[in-house]
Amino acid sequence: MSDIQALERQILDAIASAADEAALEAVRVSVLGKKGSVSELLKSLGGMTPDERKSNGPLFNGLRDRATAAIAARKTALEEGALNARLTFERVDISLPVRPEPVGSVHPVSQVLDEVTAIFADLGFAVAEGPDVEFDDYNFTKLNIPPDHPARQMHDTFYVAKQADGSQHVLRTHTSPVQVRTMLQQKPPIRIISPGRTYRVDSDATHSPMFHQFEGLVIDEVTHLGHLKWTLEEFCKAFFEVDKVEMRARPSFFPFTEPSVEWDLRCDRSGGQIKFGQGNDWLELAGSGMVHPRVLELCGIDSKRYQGYAFGGGIDRLAMLKYGIPDIRSFFESDLRWLRHYGFAALDLPTLDGGLSR
Ligand code: DAH
Repeated sequence: MSDIQALERQILDAIASAADEAALEAVRVSVLGKKGSVSELLKSLGGMTPDERKSNGPLFNGLRDRATAAIAARKTALEEGALNARLTFERVDISLPVRPEPVGSVHPVSQVLDEVTAIFADLGFAVAEGPDVEFDDYNFTKLNIPPDHPARQMHDTFYVAKQADGSQHVLRTHTSPVQVRTMLQQKPPIRIISPGRTYRVDSDATHSPMFHQFEGLVIDEVTHLGHLKWTLEEFCKAFFEVDKVEMRARPSFFPFTEPSVEWDLRCDRSGGQIKFGQGNDWLELAGSGMVHPRVLELCGIDSKRYQGYAFGGGIDRLAMLKYGIPDIRSFFESDLRWLRHYGFAALDLPTLDGGLSR
């Protein structure tokens, strides 16, 4: 075997037995580095006669090319090996049980927001959202409550300082402006549910300056109060987890609906507990009505062709009723003992088939 062949064997052996990328790099430097064995050979070509160079040149260059290729191949193999080892080592066993100790819980208001959303989603409603800081125009004017209308006094509004352009914003006093936003953006048929935060200057055991409402809106060519009643009934059955409910309609007034109806739910409060679908008490459930044609027109919808119904109610009140919470203010006190008592397991998302409140 010539010296060159012996050197090649030695180099290829060293490459093959390099156990990791650092060892391989050391081999590369010793072969192809400035003072590497093959580099020295190539340098020696300069001192040779033209004939020697002619015969040795291809030999040395061939050796360099094969060494370079072998190092590259070994590098790829080592990288793959390292990756596979990491993948095996870092594997997560998703079949392990979740941590048994309590790691936080879902606030009852969030739970009820999720329950309401799940029920209406199941009825085919899409979820719509709007901002807490709302245009006065959307909160009031486009809902047929013009400036100076007495209905504005019913809402104890938090006003935001006027903008430079003179426009007025408010903290939304109800979730009804989401109706406006939806109608301005979408063409009928519309079917949305919008749960969210609302604000009014009010605070006692049953009122909080920040509270939560849900708003429903359906716009189509044929809609009537019967659809509205059925929708609310189905909602109540699912929400209160009873087979049967009885609702009572009371004529009412809201500027954005005509006619306007408030709904009460038959319940039984005897024995310190509240039961639905029986008894002689009535519980206020939601305001509602057929969307006022003027509201449709203000929101760019042809009131000759379309009509619809809307409804809205308080989420916090629903949570208080369903989970027996006496004071609305305790929702917002962030008392850990209270949250642990009333909170819900973080991984149990409410669904209709899985159970709303396990
Ligand atoms: N926005 C009303 C309130 O805050 C509730 C309401 C009443 C909503 C009637 C509606 C409706 O969509 O049709 O008191």
